[in-house]
Amino acid sequence: MPTEPYAELAELAGGFIHEIKNHLSTLGLNLQLLAEDFQQPQNQRERRALERISRLQGECQSLVDVANDFLRFARVKDLELSPGNLVAVVEELVDFFTPTARQAAIDIKCYLPSDLPPVSLNKDLFRQALLNLMLNAQQAMPDGGELTIQAGRAPDGVCLSLIDTGKGMTHESTAKAFEPFFSTKPGGTGLGLATTRKIVEAHGGSIAIQSEVGRGTKISIQLPVANPKPGGERDEPNS
Ligand SMILES: Nc1ncnc2c1ncn2[C@@H]1O[C@H](COP(=O)(O)OP(=O)(O)OP(=O)(O)O)[C@@H](O)[C@H]1O
Ligand SMILES: [Mg+2]
Repeated sequence: MPTEPYAELAELAGGFIHEIKNHLSTLGLNLQLLAEDFQQPQNQRERRALERISRLQGECQSLVDVANDFLRFARVKDLELSPGNLVAVVEELVDFFTPTARQAAIDIKCYLPSDLPPVSLNKDLFRQALLNLMLNAQQAMPDGGELTIQAGRAPDGVCLSLIDTGKGMTHESTAKAFEPFFSTKPGGTGLGLATTRKIVEAHGGSIAIQSEVGRGTKISIQLPVANPKPGGERDEPNS
């Protein structure tokens, strides 16, 4: 597992990024005050200054965004899991995402059986994982397309797949897609899939990609069913 040996480093980096974020917030605040001072530029020089300030504000915001993405990635560790309904979480997120998809001319088709067994879930994090996948699908279909989401039983649990009709990925990209900071997008951080895999694995599950350039991409997730002990307690990982 390539991510495991880096757990300690990720924690250290997480603390470091947190520190940087504090300074970024001071920086952002001061840039905001400066921008207010130049709100009504009196001459060419002041107009140029305002332009530069707003460029710096944009850069500052990008740094905050990257820092947040990194913290989300670094902080996925021992999750609080409880038995939950995967289909309900998926449906909730589809509802949330539908207006965005409609605007992007993406048709979402769901095949979600209502009788799946409960899985061990951290709903907030799983939502985040799904959202990363939906955003990738949307970004892969700039001219619209179809996103099919289906769930079902798997030999050891439950499976969920997201299939898009987007641009697809080369073999090289597919092989690297889960690596932190791998991105082929201008402005992409490359932490979406790395975070998603970390979240799925922290649920005891697995995730895989099949993709073909020009045809689309299928992401498959497998999750184990929740395993409540008699008396209602959950299995705890070895401590
Ligand atoms: N559904 C998809 N269709 C085509 N390519 C994809 C898809 N999902 C991921 N990829 C490829 O995998 C790369 C890594 O994806 P990942 O989500 O980790 O990063 P990103 O989307 O580039 O940036 P961000 O950090 O904003 O998510 C993408 O840059 C893209 O090349
Ligand atoms: Mg992404």
